[in-house]
Amino acid sequence: MEKKFENLPEHIAIIMDGNGRWAKQRGLKRTEGHKVGAEVFRNICQYCSDIGIKYVTFYAFSTENWKRSKMEVTAIMNLLRKYLDEMQERYLENEEAGYHIRFIGSREGMPKDIVKLMDSVEEKSDDKKKTYINIAVNYGGRDEIVHSVKALAKKVKEGTLNPDDITEDMISDGLYTAGQPDPDLIIRPSGEYRLSNYLLWQSAYSEIYIDDVLWPDYTPADLDRAIEEYGRRNRRFGGV
Ligand code: FPP
Repeated sequence: MEKKFENLPEHIAIIMDGNGRWAKQRGLKRTEGHKVGAEVFRNICQYCSDIGIKYVTFYAFSTENWKRSKMEVTAIMNLLRKYLDEMQERYLENEEAGYHIRFIGSREGMPKDIVKLMDSVEEKSDDKKKTYINIAVNYGGRDEIVHSVKALAKKVKEGTLNPDDITEDMISDGLYTAGQPDPDLIIRPSGEYRLSNYLLWQSAYSEIYIDDVLWPDYTPADLDRAIEEYGRRNRRFGGV
């Protein structure tokens, strides 16, 4: 594909928001919105890979989403299971076009069969390097920071780390996204102006783009608009 953008973000993070409202507007059940949302997720993964985005992180299920009705949680887990089965199949048949897949978030409390599938898909995609796809499941930004800090606290307790020697990099290295660049651009469709506990540490200097489009209506053209706007931003990282 010919080069479409002058300034392409290396890492885009997306909050897939608005599935419930999309369904409600059509008199459908919320779960129908998630179903279409999961298809859009597949399309946007493919598009990001086509245009050469190296890292894409999707927010699929937060640590707070367990508060939703049992029916809705089950429906989202079923969509995830379906996707994992599909990916498993694709890797076995060697049809996958280079997705390196990582699940970020806590495995604790997740259905056991899903955890097994996640591990297997991660393992099968390990040698693929074209596009790094992170899927945040049972993910919370604060939870992730606590997780990283606890590991450092253990080292302090064991006497292998001096508290005065703790650096930002050490905290970054204990996050689920260890080794990956921070997101350059965070996109939130559906018009809400908040981060909702997403990538709190990693978003320190991210550009944020809010779109009115609801996630099930999101298209590659919407992503193009966000990338174009990103290209016009003047990132200063605290400098002048
Ligand atoms: C937010 O919209 C969306 C979610 C909490 C779930 C997102 C999950 C998917 C798109 C399916 C995941 C599947 C795969 C394969 C990754 P909302 O329900 O908060 O919408 P609302 O704000 O309009 O109510």
